[in-house]
Amino acid sequence: MAAWKNLDTLEAWKKIAADEKRVNIKEALTGEAGAERMKSYKVPMAAGMTYYYGAKAVDDELLEKLCALAKEAELTEKYKELYEGAVINTGEKRLVLHQLTRGQLGADVIADGVNKREFYVRQQERIAEFAKKVHAGEITNAAGEKFTTVVQIGIGGSDLGPRALYMALENWAKSNHTLKMNARFISNVDPDDALQVLSEIDVAHSIFVLVSKSGTTLETLTNESFVKDAIEKAGLNPSDHMIAVTSETSPLAKNSGYLAAFFMDDYIGGRYSSTSAVGGAVLSLAFGPEIFARILNGAAEADALSKNENPMENAAMLDALIGVYERNILDMRSTAVLPYSQALSRFPAHLQQLDMESNGKSVNRFGEPVSYQTGPVIFGEPGTNGQHSFYQLLHQGTTIVPLQFVGFVENQFDQDVVIEGSTSQKKLAANVAAQIVAFACGKDDENRNKYFEGGRPSSIIIGRKLTPEALGALLAHFENKVMFQGFLWNLNSFDQEGVQLGKLLAKRVLAHNTDGALKVLSDLFEI
Ligand code: F6P
Repeated sequence: MAAWKNLDTLEAWKKIAADEKRVNIKEALTGEAGAERMKSYKVPMAAGMTYYYGAKAVDDELLEKLCALAKEAELTEKYKELYEGAVINTGEKRLVLHQLTRGQLGADVIADGVNKREFYVRQQERIAEFAKKVHAGEITNAAGEKFTTVVQIGIGGSDLGPRALYMALENWAKSNHTLKMNARFISNVDPDDALQVLSEIDVAHSIFVLVSKSGTTLETLTNESFVKDAIEKAGLNPSDHMIAVTSETSPLAKNSGYLAAFFMDDYIGGRYSSTSAVGGAVLSLAFGPEIFARILNGAAEADALSKNENPMENAAMLDALIGVYERNILDMRSTAVLPYSQALSRFPAHLQQLDMESNGKSVNRFGEPVSYQTGPVIFGEPGTNGQHSFYQLLHQGTTIVPLQFVGFVENQFDQDVVIEGSTSQKKLAANVAAQIVAFACGKDDENRNKYFEGGRPSSIIIGRKLTPEALGALLAHFENKVMFQGFLWNLNSFDQEGVQLGKLLAKRVLAHNTDGALKVLSDLFEI
């Protein structure tokens, strides 16, 4: 059994903290040595992608210390315990099994008398069968017509990941003629969200996927009623148009008002659920089960690579270690995720939940306060859009934000134009390369206003093309990075008590049970 210890009690960490030497990125990236460093500071990832970290504030000496930290923190052993079914989620006393939705990494996990890998695969098969019948016109609306649109109703992990994945592959699927159904998403309890989606779809030809692991989420249940009302107003029967994805123990599982129900379980956290039935239903309906299976394959390959105990060959582990160094030694408080791929426009929002809901904690896994910083603030936008917005602060602001770039050699549509001697894709790539060097090396100028200090660290993940496999690999890379960081900080990365208080107070407002500031504030919204 691995020993769960606070980061600041580890000898390897004490050595890192005692070392006052800092790597000067600007110097490190200068000249021939800089070129060599850029070439060699890399780790192969799944789906043919590569993680480049030459523009990070690390050198061989520090990397060696980080490797010693990984060993002493027993990251590989903890990962093994996790995928073999230990109760890693101490707060909720649950297993953490999302990797089992895409592969078997170790011994069989039997929980509640069930082989969990078999359970997840069975759900995938049931979804695949259902999706194929919908595509073949064997499951239709009451008029016998094919469904053309799938609408996911869910929030948080039941929305962000699946939505980010759908958006990431929509153009790829169009280009490869595998887009079977358009997908739309309703998440916010703001009535305008549901109304907008409903105004843009043809309800009679739409199938709605109600997704809630708990089956109790206010937003999702409200939106379900909203949608059912719209279906009824269109003269249709809601149960002909709705399927549910939930856990077998949730109140939704007992509801017979759905065309079909697919299951995940309490061992898969909401933000880790994209590869379970939560993402499986909408993505299999939209793209076909074969494409969903390809996403799972990419994720499974990344999960397997994450087993490597050598961080120099394990991109997720190295990314995690460098992130902790930046957070706790260099005191960098946020991280920007900057995909140079429009298809990944919602990916930063997914990573925001993944990272901040997992590691935004002040107590360790035993409930004791920690005396060091934990998860950073995550934000991001696709490039080049972000360049024309918040990059000003990133380049010249008083705070240094580590940057996580993602880029691809090819775009998703097999189509581009040459304007002024280069394709748009080349321009995109030129921009990301330029940004990395500009952030790292800066620029001297006598005019302080035009001076760039440099020394802004970044890494980049580069792939050939954003395919289903690459997407699955990216998803799992970040899940595993967050997991390793949680291990290093000795946190329980798999509960989210911090979202409960606001929910409780909102219930009081709705029950007119308020006083003080809460009453004043809620009264401001009275019409
Ligand atoms: O409020 C936070 C949260 O519990 C997330 O962790 C989760 O992804 C989301 O709500 C939705 O939960 P559910 O799938 O149970 O509706």
